[in-house]
Amino acid sequence: LYEVAEFAATRFEEHLSGNMGETATDYLRSRGVSDELVGKYRIGYAAPGWSSLVDEMKMAGYNLRAAEMLGLVRRADAGHYYDLLRNRLVFPISDVRGRVIAFAGRALGDDEPKYLNSPESEIFTKGDVWYGLDVARESIRRRDRVIIVEGYTDVLACADEAWPEVVAAMGTAVTPNQARILSRYTQTAYAAFDADDAGANAALRSFRSFAGSGVDLRVIRFDEGMDPADLLSEEDGPARFEVAIRDAVGFFDFAWERAKKTYDLRSSRGKARAVADMAPVIAAEEDPVARGDHIRKLSDELRVSEEAVRTGLRRALRAVRSTGGARDVAPGTEDAVEPEGIEGSDDAGSAQYKAERQVITMMLRHPEYLRRGREWLVAEDFRTELYGALAGEILSSEEEDPHRLAGNLISGGDERKKSELARLMMEEGTPDNDDRVFEDCAALLKRRAVEIKLEELQRRISDMQERGETIPVDVWREQSSLLGKLKGSGEIWRSNRGQRE
Ligand code: UTP
Ligand code: MN
Repeated sequence: LYEVAEFAATRFEEHLSGNMGETATDYLRSRGVSDELVGKYRIGYAAPGWSSLVDEMKMAGYNLRAAEMLGLVRRADAGHYYDLLRNRLVFPISDVRGRVIAFAGRALGDDEPKYLNSPESEIFTKGDVWYGLDVARESIRRRDRVIIVEGYTDVLACADEAWPEVVAAMGTAVTPNQARILSRYTQTAYAAFDADDAGANAALRSFRSFAGSGVDLRVIRFDEGMDPADLLSEEDGPARFEVAIRDAVGFFDFAWERAKKTYDLRSSRGKARAVADMAPVIAAEEDPVARGDHIRKLSDELRVSEEAVRTGLRRALRAVRSTGGARDVAPGTEDAVEPEGIEGSDDAGSAQYKAERQVITMMLRHPEYLRRGREWLVAEDFRTELYGALAGEILSSEEEDPHRLAGNLISGGDERKKSELARLMMEEGTPDNDDRVFEDCAALLKRRAVEIKLEELQRRISDMQERGETIPVDVWREQSSLLGKLKGSGEIWRSNRGQRE
């Protein structure tokens, strides 16, 4: 694989510098990419034909299976291979030692998809690789910092200006392993993500990945809608980029600014939600002095007592823990704001319990989730006693307004139901408006229900077999239908969604 990847990278470089690479070269020039960078990053060009690379590989006697694993060629039904990257700019992705391990092919115009990427392979695991680290590592050591961007073109833009210490996470959130890799070179990282919601979410996730890595991450902020490449293409861009690096903020400030933008902090509900959002951030802070400072800041800016802030944080962390978000919290640090031990039994911590609780909470807060829940779920999907009973009532009721429904349930229920409902309704810090969370939880319930049915059925089958009975055909049929559901549970889910829309 290494050898074939290297062979292909060299061919792509040749295609770029040859006659047919003219349009691609013009494109690079128009974006201000220098020849020097083209060489350093080994940028190439995949020719437009259907078999340029295939023919070159055959001629050189290479096995095309390897090229297929690298996502460069594909085998047609008829058995012959054809090029997958055609008329595309090629960014080879290398490991730290500079060995090419994967490729990204960018369309020259507005062709879709914008990028064709290598799949993961024996030599390429996406979450373990930084684009450009092989080129940047000496600069990162020398300058004792790294700049993290989202895209290949951002890497080129930074490296072309004054920032050769740049790497890209290739359009995904930074993984803990990527954070660990950088920690070998420096303890200071600056993330320059696109200034949009996706970029902000990537930043928040990245902070979590960097927690405990020994690398201090700060986030560079740009004007809305910009990315580093856009900014640096402007005349005063480099100067503004320098200022933006100087003004970069850490996890607490970044999250707090976002919370302030998201909630109306004059209302007490807004204050409560902001505090809830900040709970995992504060819990992730390892330094107790800094933690105290953060709490003081919240108390000052929200104009509530520190004690009230601490109470809010404590409550939110309990909620985070019971909805499965606790992995984001550095182990042990809950104690910073949460002196009591973990409440509830083991059962209360299981994924099933968390998912049931999350789905019910979301259905009781948003008409959309109530509607979807009724469409997708049945009461039997809920297996804990209390939530099963609640789900039965929620799913069978016709009330479409979640708040009225919750009110009805509370007034009609027994003490236990009442207090559980009140807790669910009041709890802050649960992501109560996040499609992914809802879908993941609901899918988990569905899958688990199928698994349990399957287990029961298989027990019945083996009982019958032991007794020497013949298994009726419809039992087999049911088993295979359940197995099919289980295998395709992801797809079934998505296609449900498609039908709905
Ligand atoms: P962008 O769409 O911002 O692309 O995606 P870009 O590389 O900055 O290109 P320009 O500047 O718009 O021309 C950022 C990164 O997300 C990944 C790539 O790693 C890309 O560099 N991505 C994006 C893909 O893998 N596939 C896509 O279709 C789009
Ligand atoms: Mn971009």
